[in-house]
Amino acid sequence: MSVLGDPALQARIDALQAQSVAQEAETGRWFGERIRKGELSWEGFDDASHRFMADKFVALEPIKAEFCYLTCRALRATRVVEVGTSYGVSTHYLAAAVRDNGGGRVIATEYEPAKAAAARANFQAAGISDLIDLREGDLRETLQVIDGPVDFVLMDIWTEMVVPALTLIGPHLRPGAVIVADNTTASRPGYRAFFDYLADPANGLRSMTLPFEGGLEFCVKL
Ligand SMILES: C[S@@+](CC[C@H](N)C(=O)[O-])C[C@H]1O[C@@H](n2cnc3c(N)ncnc32)[C@H](O)[C@@H]1O
Repeated sequence: MSVLGDPALQARIDALQAQSVAQEAETGRWFGERIRKGELSWEGFDDASHRFMADKFVALEPIKAEFCYLTCRALRATRVVEVGTSYGVSTHYLAAAVRDNGGGRVIATEYEPAKAAAARANFQAAGISDLIDLREGDLRETLQVIDGPVDFVLMDIWTEMVVPALTLIGPHLRPGAVIVADNTTASRPGYRAFFDYLADPANGLRSMTLPFEGGLEFCVKL
């Protein structure tokens, strides 16, 4: 039995994950070439990178998504925010956790219209649409309103968007809420502002880096 315990949903996720994995070699080559030419910066994506990534899944690896599912179950999470949704692969795990906890809402965020449309279709096909509030557009606008205390946040976004997202979500975190942020070791220079945010006692967060591939930050609201 998989961690999700839902073979039909797992089959849908596996098919989407396969599409994501099929894009990885091309993405690796493209960024590798730009790194060799010295064209990339940790300050954020340029227009060429945004254009290239406009149709890329970059789905969270299954083992990390399963960890998020189990953490949401442990927290009895019913209010979840996903920062960076793409085609919605990780959203399936979060929605399943909320459903299995008795119901609730996942706020999902995606600014590429084609990805948001595909994510909506994926949620519909999986029968989980009623659990997801997909907010299309730039998260600096779409996360201005967050209702109720937030139990869990998945931070899976270009690093320059992490602190803008946290600034909006932070005031809504309930004590004991968990934030999971992906690739905090591999993308450490891009996460500098995030670690400064974590180090500020006024923000009331403590964290450790879990040894998943690329590093996965596990942060708890005190
Ligand atoms: C790493 S992907 C998310 C993958 C997703 N969590 C999954 O597992 O399938 C990050 C996504 O964030 C989106 N994104 C980047 N900047 C954004 C912003 N300012 N507002 C909303 N979405 C944004 C990108 O288009 C991209 O699809």
